[in-house]
Amino acid sequence: MADDGPRVEVTRNGPYRVTGGPPLSRQVIGTDERGQSVEWIEGERLPDMDTYELCRCGRSGHKPYCDGSHERVGFQAEEGPAARVPYLQMAQEQDGPEYTLTDAEPLCAFARFCDADGQVWNLIEKPGGGERAKQEAQHCPGGRLVPWKLDERRALEPELPLSLGLIEDPAQGVSGPLWVRGGIPVVDDAGEPYEGRNRMALCRCGASKNKPFCDGSHAAVGFDDGAVTT
Ligand code: FES
Repeated sequence: MADDGPRVEVTRNGPYRVTGGPPLSRQVIGTDERGQSVEWIEGERLPDMDTYELCRCGRSGHKPYCDGSHERVGFQAEEGPAARVPYLQMAQEQDGPEYTLTDAEPLCAFARFCDADGQVWNLIEKPGGGERAKQEAQHCPGGRLVPWKLDERRALEPELPLSLGLIEDPAQGVSGPLWVRGGIPVVDDAGEPYEGRNRMALCRCGASKNKPFCDGSHAAVGFDDGAVTT
């Protein structure tokens, strides 16, 4: 029986083909008075559609949707070196008194939640810092950072709705990746799945060196999908 649940297909040198109608909304990185990333703000909800194609070359004139510009610009989207490496194989592990933190740097989407309050890598080791460290790691959109319950070896993943988010980063004045939430499968053009994860950030600017995943390059290239500000 065909599975008609939500799915994201990474087409070859083309857009993300979304099927199964997952809701799509803007997800804005909210900052405090010091400019530190502290919360996710639910932004504009885009029209519901069963099937749609989202630009990943960064050149569409109709973002976030594909308008065929990838063909005009000859978009080449080679897979990055870490694209097929299982998370736990590339992650470094750091134990603290309350939680363990795993960190796979190639998946960094530059949302900077880990920088607040003295950085997650310090907080995790600090007595009493575990809860804040856990929270920061759970905010990480690409799932670079994962907190674990020390004694149970259980990942403390946040509960996320089955949905897609268009990340906007007004503090940096840029737009960010496509946030795939709740374990929506991501497959290549042959239907081969990437590792299934609760949080994944897929490149939308076309500049990542770790396609299809975001590596934070949108900040360097000043990617703007036309909706950076809330
Ligand atoms: S992927 Fe089609 S216009 Fe960008």
